[in-house]
Amino acid sequence: MNDERILIRRAGPLRGEVAIPGAKNSVLKLMAATLLADGTSTLTNVPDIVDVGIMGDLLAAIGVRSERVGPDTVRMVNDGNISPVAPYELVERIRASINVLGPLLGRFGRVSLSLPGGDDFGSRPIDMHLKGLEAMGATFELRHGVVEARAERLHGADITLDFPSVGATENILTAAVHAKGTTVIDNAAREPEIADLCNFLVAMGAHIGGIGSSTLVIEGVEPGQLHAADHQVVPDRIQAATYLAAVAVSGGEVVLRGARADHMEMLLRRFRDMGLSITTIGGALDGSDAGGGLAVWAEGRLRSIDVATLPYPGIATDYKPLIVTMLAVADGVGIVTENLYPGRFRYVEELQRLGADIRADGHHAVVRGVPQLSGAPVRAPDIRAGAALVVAGLAADGETSVAGVHHVDRGYDDLVGRLAALGADIERVDAPA
Ligand code: EPU
Repeated sequence: MNDERILIRRAGPLRGEVAIPGAKNSVLKLMAATLLADGTSTLTNVPDIVDVGIMGDLLAAIGVRSERVGPDTVRMVNDGNISPVAPYELVERIRASINVLGPLLGRFGRVSLSLPGGDDFGSRPIDMHLKGLEAMGATFELRHGVVEARAERLHGADITLDFPSVGATENILTAAVHAKGTTVIDNAAREPEIADLCNFLVAMGAHIGGIGSSTLVIEGVEPGQLHAADHQVVPDRIQAATYLAAVAVSGGEVVLRGARADHMEMLLRRFRDMGLSITTIGGALDGSDAGGGLAVWAEGRLRSIDVATLPYPGIATDYKPLIVTMLAVADGVGIVTENLYPGRFRYVEELQRLGADIRADGHHAVVRGVPQLSGAPVRAPDIRAGAALVVAGLAADGETSVAGVHHVDRGYDDLVGRLAALGADIERVDAPA
């Protein structure tokens, strides 16, 4: 593990334009979906992040090669030589490794998969994934941390998820494309990254109705009928939100090229409530034109709001560390409620080191805004919290040094370079020996 740090010093308003890279939580699933068909698929708008490399290594161990053929283009080659065994050393590194389960089970009828790792926020079970796949005829045995999955040929089923789990929706979906008959997923997750996966599967020849809604209807095709396809990854709404938060605490005027307002509606509304001015620019009014984006202006102090995280279209849990950081310097008191994960307030102690006034208890945090944070050494506990600490550094007097940069690299494509280009005083340095 490298021990680099990000050093941030408060600078004037941010100005300029930043290109928003493709979404981590889409591209990893798209890569896993290339297990479904032989041939070469080309993915564009692929972010240059560590998790893409890890997913590439995992798929290479299973039998799909990935190759970066351009700055944002990855070619995935599936020549049909698949071994449905996902080794622990790779699986434990990212949560999205669980996404090989659906494609492999649906197409090959067997998988041997170690339980996935990823960010450590409390326990992250996969019971809904397994229950859904069981309803389609799969059997599972869990031995020594390895899930052994079997199915002769999956059959369609009516599945109602207890909760709109992103991962469970994706695994059931990617298994159902090869099941015999019709699968209906009710209370499906509706995140834009799920619609992106659906659109890729449709380009591969799958039959999916209800894309973007909470009821997905999948007509299975015979294994062997899907084909490789090319696809452009949707922009990363969490990275986009990070640049919005950076402008919010620094002031300034920035264009987020490629950001999609229609994927971030609730968040944009709440950011406007806090005092940000945000408009959609270029292209269609719904922001769906890839050439368009968002323009954001911020001046003066932010206003506090209360926020609760919810599944899409609610405020994503991944935005929360950024929102807490903005509230930490806003005028007033904000109450933040986490509804998705237990124990996802770990970064609060780090923000407190920077002078934030936050009381976190169970699922709630009460954030009393202070006029100014003060720079200090802090450590990123996970991807999103790491980015939020960098944003906090922009609002802090003196120097903030963020360790645990490898977390940030998992999900952010050159955060430091992008912020520096907007005028932030920020650099990456090796940790002193
Ligand atoms: N859950 C269960 N049982 C299941 C599945 C989920 O109890 O079978 C619970 C989880 O423990 C959690 C909640 O349901 O409390 C949400 O889990 P979900 O399955 O929706 O999330 P995920 O697929 O594991 C993805 C993202 C996360 C993001 C969540 C919620 C990926 C690789 N990860 O996780 O992103 O926080 O959805 O939106 O797509 C990140 O990018 O930093 C990140 C953590």
